[in-house]
Amino acid sequence: MPTLASCKSLAICLLFAAAYAVLPAQATSLSDDVDLRIETFDEIERLFKALRFKVVNMRSDDQEGAVTYSDEIVGLAYRLPGLFEENSPRQLFPQSRARPEIWERPERYNYLLNQFLDNLEQIDELLREGSMTEAGRKIDETAKNCRRCHDVFRYR
Ligand code: HEC
Repeated sequence: MPTLASCKSLAICLLFAAAYAVLPAQATSLSDDVDLRIETFDEIERLFKALRFKVVNMRSDDQEGAVTYSDEIVGLAYRLPGLFEENSPRQLFPQSRARPEIWERPERYNYLLNQFLDNLEQIDELLREGSMTEAGRKIDETAKNCRRCHDVFRYR
């Protein structure tokens, strides 16, 4: 059955071709992940500042507007854990400010990242139930999460 045999080897050939096609794609995709996490943090910073200004500085009672911000922030923040899974410090990706300590002390890093995510969820909940003052307090508390993590895990 020569037809079946050649078909089989063609399948194997295609498999190898696919594997080779994927390898360089993976190498660039890690760099894409690094770019995406930088972009994501920039966007989180912009929205978090806007939310803080609205709720804490202006004491705005525009609950709907505040929830729109916090929803977006939560959505963006949930991208983050997946973008730090592979070892990708500044030593490997010059565009990054990530310190190697992220992958040397993953328990500590993940603890801080989870705490950040929890706080963002709580802000969202407080805003949804209309507890604007409580939400403001939580926003101030969460702002300290940024500093605490950057001090150890991000280059200046
Ligand atoms: C659990 C740790 C952690 C928390 C919490 C955290 N960050 Fe970051 N942040 C990082 C790391 C690590 C980088 C560097 C990412 C990179 O460059 O690869 C970063 C980068 C950034 C950047 C710049 C992107 C760049 O690298 O040039 C901004 C802006 C930023 N963070 C803002 C914030 C703000 C605002 C908060 C809080 C609302 C926050 N971050 C909370 C770890 C954290």
